[in-house]
Amino acid sequence: MFKKILIKDLKENAVSLFDDRWALLTSGDKDSYNTMTVSWGMMGELWNKDVCTVFVRPQRYTYEFMEKNDGFTLSIFPEEYRKALSFCGSKSGRDYDKAKETGLVPFKCEQGIAFEQAEIIINCKKLYVQDMKEDCFLDKSIIDKCYNGDFHRIYVGEITEVLIKE
Ligand SMILES: Cc1cc2nc3c(=O)[nH]c(=O)nc-3n(C[C@H](O)[C@H](O)[C@H](O)COP(=O)(O)O)c2cc1C
Repeated sequence: MFKKILIKDLKENAVSLFDDRWALLTSGDKDSYNTMTVSWGMMGELWNKDVCTVFVRPQRYTYEFMEKNDGFTLSIFPEEYRKALSFCGSKSGRDYDKAKETGLVPFKCEQGIAFEQAEIIINCKKLYVQDMKEDCFLDKSIIDKCYNGDFHRIYVGEITEVLIKE
Protein backbone atom coordinates (compact mmCIF):
# COMPACT_ATOMS: atom_id res chain seq x y z
CA MET A 1 0.00 0.00 0.00
CA PHE A 2 1.12 3.52 -0.75
CA LYS A 3 0.52 6.67 1.26
CA LYS A 4 0.50 10.21 -0.03
CA ILE A 5 3.19 12.56 1.28
CA LEU A 6 4.27 16.12 0.60
CA ILE A 7 7.32 16.38 -1.65
CA LYS A 8 9.05 18.45 1.06
CA ASP A 9 8.70 15.49 3.45
CA LEU A 10 10.56 13.17 1.09
CA LYS A 11 13.76 12.17 2.92
CA GLU A 12 15.73 11.32 -0.24
CA ASN A 13 18.49 13.54 -1.52
CA ALA A 14 17.37 14.55 -5.02
CA VAL A 15 20.83 14.18 -6.59
CA SER A 16 21.43 10.70 -5.22
CA LEU A 17 17.87 9.71 -6.05
CA PHE A 18 18.63 10.16 -9.75
CA ASP A 19 22.36 9.48 -9.92
CA ASP A 20 22.63 6.52 -7.53
CA ARG A 21 19.21 4.94 -7.31
CA TRP A 22 17.93 5.67 -10.83
CA ALA A 23 14.19 5.75 -11.62
CA LEU A 24 11.72 4.40 -14.12
CA LEU A 25 10.20 7.18 -16.17
CA THR A 26 6.78 6.07 -17.39
CA SER A 27 4.19 7.77 -19.55
CA GLY A 28 0.83 6.59 -20.87
CA ASP A 29 -2.18 4.77 -19.48
CA LYS A 30 -2.88 1.14 -18.67
CA ASP A 31 -3.75 0.29 -22.28
CA SER A 32 -0.71 1.97 -23.79
CA TYR A 33 2.36 3.08 -21.87
CA ASN A 34 6.12 2.74 -21.92
CA THR A 35 8.81 2.93 -19.31
CA MET A 36 12.57 3.47 -19.33
CA THR A 37 15.35 3.96 -16.81
CA VAL A 38 16.60 7.49 -16.18
CA SER A 39 19.45 8.77 -14.06
CA TRP A 40 19.60 12.34 -15.31
CA GLY A 41 16.99 14.53 -13.73
CA MET A 42 16.37 17.19 -11.15
CA MET A 43 13.85 18.32 -8.60
CA GLY A 44 13.23 21.77 -7.19
CA GLU A 45 11.25 24.98 -7.40
CA LEU A 46 10.23 26.85 -10.55
CA TRP A 47 7.39 29.27 -11.29
CA ASN A 48 6.35 28.90 -7.62
CA LYS A 49 5.70 25.22 -8.19
CA ASP A 50 7.41 22.01 -7.06
CA VAL A 51 8.86 20.55 -10.23
CA CYS A 52 10.74 17.59 -11.53
CA THR A 53 12.70 17.80 -14.81
CA VAL A 54 13.64 14.81 -16.95
CA PHE A 55 15.68 14.55 -20.15
CA VAL A 56 14.64 12.19 -22.94
CA ARG A 57 16.52 11.52 -26.18
CA PRO A 58 14.31 11.55 -29.29
CA GLN A 59 15.12 7.96 -30.29
CA ARG A 60 13.60 6.50 -27.08
CA TYR A 61 10.25 4.76 -27.47
CA THR A 62 9.29 6.49 -24.22
CA TYR A 63 9.69 9.83 -26.03
CA GLU A 64 6.59 9.04 -28.13
CA PHE A 65 4.57 8.51 -24.95
CA MET A 66 5.98 11.63 -23.30
CA GLU A 67 4.79 13.58 -26.34
CA LYS A 68 1.31 12.05 -26.48
CA ASN A 69 0.42 12.28 -22.79
CA ASP A 70 -0.09 15.14 -20.36
CA GLY A 71 1.90 13.61 -17.55
CA PHE A 72 4.56 11.16 -16.45
CA THR A 73 5.62 9.27 -13.37
CA LEU A 74 8.92 8.41 -11.75
CA SER A 75 9.11 5.12 -9.86
CA ILE A 76 12.03 4.64 -7.47
CA PHE A 77 12.78 1.10 -6.31
CA PRO A 78 14.60 -0.77 -3.56
CA GLU A 79 18.11 -1.95 -4.52
CA GLU A 80 16.93 -5.49 -5.31
CA TYR A 81 15.30 -4.15 -8.50
CA ARG A 82 18.58 -2.90 -9.99
CA LYS A 83 18.55 -5.73 -12.53
CA ALA A 84 15.04 -4.79 -13.68
CA LEU A 85 16.16 -1.16 -14.02
CA SER A 86 19.18 -2.24 -16.05
CA PHE A 87 16.88 -4.18 -18.36
CA CYS A 88 14.51 -1.22 -18.80
CA GLY A 89 17.52 1.00 -19.45
CA SER A 90 19.07 -1.17 -22.13
CA LYS A 91 16.12 -2.67 -24.03
CA SER A 92 13.39 -0.84 -25.90
CA GLY A 93 9.68 -1.16 -25.37
CA ARG A 94 9.52 -1.43 -29.15
CA ASP A 95 11.04 -4.92 -28.83
CA TYR A 96 10.06 -6.11 -25.35
CA ASP A 97 7.17 -6.03 -22.92
CA LYS A 98 9.27 -4.63 -20.09
CA ALA A 99 6.73 -5.42 -17.35
CA LYS A 100 6.49 -9.04 -18.48
CA GLU A 101 10.26 -9.45 -18.78
CA THR A 102 11.05 -7.93 -15.37
CA GLY A 103 8.00 -8.97 -13.34
CA LEU A 104 7.22 -5.35 -12.55
CA VAL A 105 3.49 -4.82 -12.06
CA PRO A 106 1.90 -1.69 -13.57
CA PHE A 107 0.12 0.45 -10.97
CA LYS A 108 -2.48 2.98 -12.02
CA CYS A 109 -1.87 6.35 -10.44
CA GLU A 110 -2.70 10.03 -10.84
CA GLN A 111 -0.55 10.77 -13.89
CA GLY A 112 -0.79 7.39 -15.57
CA ILE A 113 1.19 4.29 -14.73
CA ALA A 114 3.90 3.53 -12.18
CA PHE A 115 4.86 0.17 -10.62
CA GLU A 116 3.62 -1.71 -7.57
CA GLN A 117 7.13 -2.68 -6.44
CA ALA A 118 8.26 0.99 -6.27
CA GLU A 119 9.21 2.52 -2.93
CA ILE A 120 8.52 6.07 -4.10
CA ILE A 121 6.25 7.27 -6.91
CA ILE A 122 6.39 10.85 -8.14
CA ASN A 123 3.50 11.99 -10.36
CA CYS A 124 4.16 14.93 -12.68
CA LYS A 125 2.06 17.00 -15.05
CA LYS A 126 3.97 18.42 -18.02
CA LEU A 127 4.45 22.19 -17.86
CA TYR A 128 7.23 22.92 -20.29
CA VAL A 129 9.07 21.17 -23.13
CA GLN A 130 12.20 22.29 -24.94
CA ASP A 131 14.90 20.66 -27.04
CA MET A 132 18.52 21.21 -26.09
CA LYS A 133 20.40 23.14 -28.77
CA GLU A 134 24.02 22.79 -29.81
CA ASP A 135 24.51 26.58 -29.75
CA CYS A 136 23.46 26.79 -26.12
CA PHE A 137 26.28 24.58 -24.78
CA LEU A 138 28.90 26.84 -23.22
CA ASP A 139 31.11 23.84 -22.51
CA LYS A 140 31.29 22.27 -25.96
CA SER A 141 33.17 19.24 -24.64
CA ILE A 142 29.84 17.95 -23.29
CA ILE A 143 28.60 17.60 -26.87
CA ASP A 144 31.43 15.24 -27.82
CA LYS A 145 31.14 13.28 -24.58
CA CYS A 146 27.37 12.89 -24.45
CA TYR A 147 25.81 13.38 -27.88
CA ASN A 148 25.69 12.14 -31.39
CA GLY A 149 23.20 14.70 -32.69
CA ASP A 150 20.57 13.27 -30.35
CA PHE A 151 20.07 16.20 -28.00
CA HIS A 152 17.65 15.58 -25.16
CA ARG A 153 14.18 17.00 -24.99
CA ILE A 154 13.71 18.66 -21.61
CA TYR A 155 10.42 18.03 -19.81
CA VAL A 156 9.61 20.11 -16.76
CA GLY A 157 6.73 18.58 -14.84
CA GLU A 158 4.79 19.92 -11.89
CA ILE A 159 4.87 17.42 -9.04
CA THR A 160 1.19 16.71 -8.43
CA GLU A 161 1.35 13.73 -6.06
CA VAL A 162 4.04 11.81 -4.22
CA LEU A 163 3.41 8.30 -2.92
CA ILE A 164 5.63 6.21 -0.64
CA LYS A 165 5.33 2.56 0.33
CA GLU A 166 3.83 2.15 3.82
C1 LIG B 1 21.25 4.11 -15.59
C2 LIG B 1 20.62 4.57 -16.88
C3 LIG B 1 20.18 5.89 -16.99
C4 LIG B 1 19.59 6.37 -18.17
N1 LIG B 1 19.15 7.67 -18.22
C5 LIG B 1 18.57 8.13 -19.35
C6 LIG B 1 18.07 9.46 -19.40
O1 LIG B 1 18.11 10.23 -18.42
N2 LIG B 1 17.53 9.90 -20.58
C7 LIG B 1 17.47 9.08 -21.69
O2 LIG B 1 16.98 9.52 -22.73
N3 LIG B 1 17.91 7.80 -21.65
C8 LIG B 1 18.43 7.30 -20.50
N4 LIG B 1 18.86 6.00 -20.43
C9 LIG B 1 18.70 5.12 -21.61
C10 LIG B 1 17.29 4.51 -21.74
O3 LIG B 1 16.80 4.05 -20.50
C11 LIG B 1 17.38 3.32 -22.71
O4 LIG B 1 17.83 3.77 -23.98
C12 LIG B 1 16.08 2.55 -22.85
O5 LIG B 1 16.38 1.31 -23.45
C13 LIG B 1 15.02 3.28 -23.67
O6 LIG B 1 13.90 2.47 -23.72
P1 LIG B 1 12.64 2.77 -24.68
O7 LIG B 1 13.14 2.71 -26.11
O8 LIG B 1 11.70 1.64 -24.36
O9 LIG B 1 12.12 4.10 -24.31
C14 LIG B 1 19.44 5.50 -19.26
C15 LIG B 1 19.87 4.16 -19.17
C16 LIG B 1 20.45 3.70 -17.99
C17 LIG B 1 20.89 2.26 -17.87
